[in-house]
Amino acid sequence: MYLSRFLSIHALWVTVSSVMQPYLFVWGHYDVCKSLIYTEEGKVWDYTACQPESTDMTKYLKVKLDPPDITCGDPPESFCAMGNPYMCNNECDASTPELAHPPELMFDFEGRHPSTFWQSATWKEYPKPLQVNITLSWSKTIELTDNIVITFESGRPDQMILEKSLDYGRTWQPYQYYATDCLHAFHMDPKSVKDLSQHTVLEIICTEEYSTGYSTNSKIIHFEIKDRFAFFAGPRLRNMASLYGQLDTTKKLRDFFTVTDLRIRLLRPAVGELFVDELHLARYFYAISDIKVRGRCKCNLHATSCLYDNSKLTCECEHNTTGPDCGKCKKNYQGRPWSPGSYLPIPKGTANTCIPSISSIGNCECFGHSNRCSYIDLLNTVICVSCKHNTRGQHCELCRLGYFRNASAQLDDENVCIECYCNPLGSIHDRCNGSGYCECKTGTTGPKCDECLPGNSWYYGCQPNVCDNELLHCQNGGTCQNNVRCACPDAYTGILCEKLRCEEAGSCGSSSGQGAPPRGSPALLLLTMLLGTAGPLVF
Ligand SMILES: *[C@@H]1O[C@H](CO)[C@@H](O)[C@H](O)[C@H]1NC(C)=O
Ligand SMILES: *[C@@H]1O[C@H](CO)[C@@H](O)[C@H](O)[C@H]1NC(C)=O
Ligand SMILES: *[C@@H]1O[C@H](CO)[C@@H](O)[C@H](O)[C@H]1NC(C)=O
Ligand SMILES: *[C@@H]1O[C@H](CO)[C@@H](O)[C@H](O)[C@H]1NC(C)=O
Repeated sequence: MYLSRFLSIHALWVTVSSVMQPYLFVWGHYDVCKSLIYTEEGKVWDYTACQPESTDMTKYLKVKLDPPDITCGDPPESFCAMGNPYMCNNECDASTPELAHPPELMFDFEGRHPSTFWQSATWKEYPKPLQVNITLSWSKTIELTDNIVITFESGRPDQMILEKSLDYGRTWQPYQYYATDCLHAFHMDPKSVKDLSQHTVLEIICTEEYSTGYSTNSKIIHFEIKDRFAFFAGPRLRNMASLYGQLDTTKKLRDFFTVTDLRIRLLRPAVGELFVDELHLARYFYAISDIKVRGRCKCNLHATSCLYDNSKLTCECEHNTTGPDCGKCKKNYQGRPWSPGSYLPIPKGTANTCIPSISSIGNCECFGHSNRCSYIDLLNTVICVSCKHNTRGQHCELCRLGYFRNASAQLDDENVCIECYCNPLGSIHDRCNGSGYCECKTGTTGPKCDECLPGNSWYYGCQPNVCDNELLHCQNGGTCQNNVRCACPDAYTGILCEKLRCEEAGSCGSSSGQGAPPRGSPALLLLTMLLGTAGPLVF
């Protein structure tokens, strides 16, 4: 069942994207999070950006009025018909269902006559302002997709502010000001959304378009979402791709259409004339028959549906994300930082799924040599941190320098890397090749460079032979020591004891004869340095 549903959806995508692509640009649905596709490796899931359908969000809100006792009818009172100040036999009585006007009536089904509406108490306490806050809360971020429409049963207010919150009511920002006289009411020049452009679309304006009194027929106030969309998608929103592209790249724009709460601040009721008629204050009140808010749960393009459970909205997250807005990666899927899906490329977008955390899948990806991984943003990749057991590499799959791979051990074996043990005197450096062979200095050999080639002898590393008992004999009674030098009798010197010491000193034939005390000469010093001075060398 499940699979076939996705299969058929995929089949639809194929048809649609190959035959009717232009329509996708119009609608830009993003209505599947994944589909099965066939590749050379068989069936695999293809993950795509997805979002819930736009719907009537008033079904899911909580409404709160401030002051709390501002609804009419407790105690019962009579009010005048707006159009006719002398017709004051309308009654509001909270305890009689037919005469009560509770807040719920702003959200019930309209379309029958007479309409049902919420109504405030009248402006009895004039000139103290009659102000009411109507706060709509979703306890969930939602994205507005259509105009907010408020239908007044009485005249539209002289002054009103629509506010929004993005943090569940902690802070509020104005969304739009409404007044019969913007300059007087809010010190703002009147504007209409049509005066804005792509560049000023986020400007908060005061509009006088909706605030004339009850003399006109219209009872409606708009907050114009679609006109704002149209700056990007064109007049009839035909180019949604362009809008989605902008939303994708401009967080401010996305946030502009996102709310958790809305607040309608009614600041001054419709007066309809220049002055308030103090003799008939029962003419002045607020009454709202309908509020329309269309939108969708914000799920960061990781869900197609939003559950309403225990009067709470929650995205049904896919792509291994979680949270009410799919705003983070599921446990064990934190292999890279969370990111929202993207509308781009059109039409299927990019899912940006969460990937498994490496440490969570049995250390397999670090071969058990590390239990920490780190995400490198620049490379968009995950690496193992602090590889143990002399390993190194992105997955601890290599041996550290100075170690080589133990051919009889698996990659996850603690003994996988063996120290090279290159002889420090016989090798050029401490690294070895894959079979443990070190790089040797001249005259040196052996896997660890601890043996000398023929004609060389070990003396702090391999040195070329100086003397031996076959070809290179020490002369004048000198003895060959370890093939590296001749130990000469007192009177002789030279590599093979071939020279008289007094010749060297230039003192032969003097009164004291042979055995003149040696004097340091440069050549002797050099020889001494070359051969070293250790051992029983006697001059
Ligand atoms: C309405 O809410 C605003 C803040 O958004 C607050 O300053 C004001 O006092 C509230 N008015 C009433 C009548 O509660
Ligand atoms: C989420 O993780 C499960 C388990 O590894 C995997 O089968 C599934 O395909 C993943 N889903 C996405 C959308 O990445
Ligand atoms: C190579 O690995 C095997 C298997 O773990 C182990 O028995 C052996 O001691 C290792 N060799 C060295 C030199 O560490
Ligand atoms: C390491 O070097 C030795 C000696 O040069 C050679 O025989 C051996 O094939 C090399 N091993 C590898 C893995 O390169």
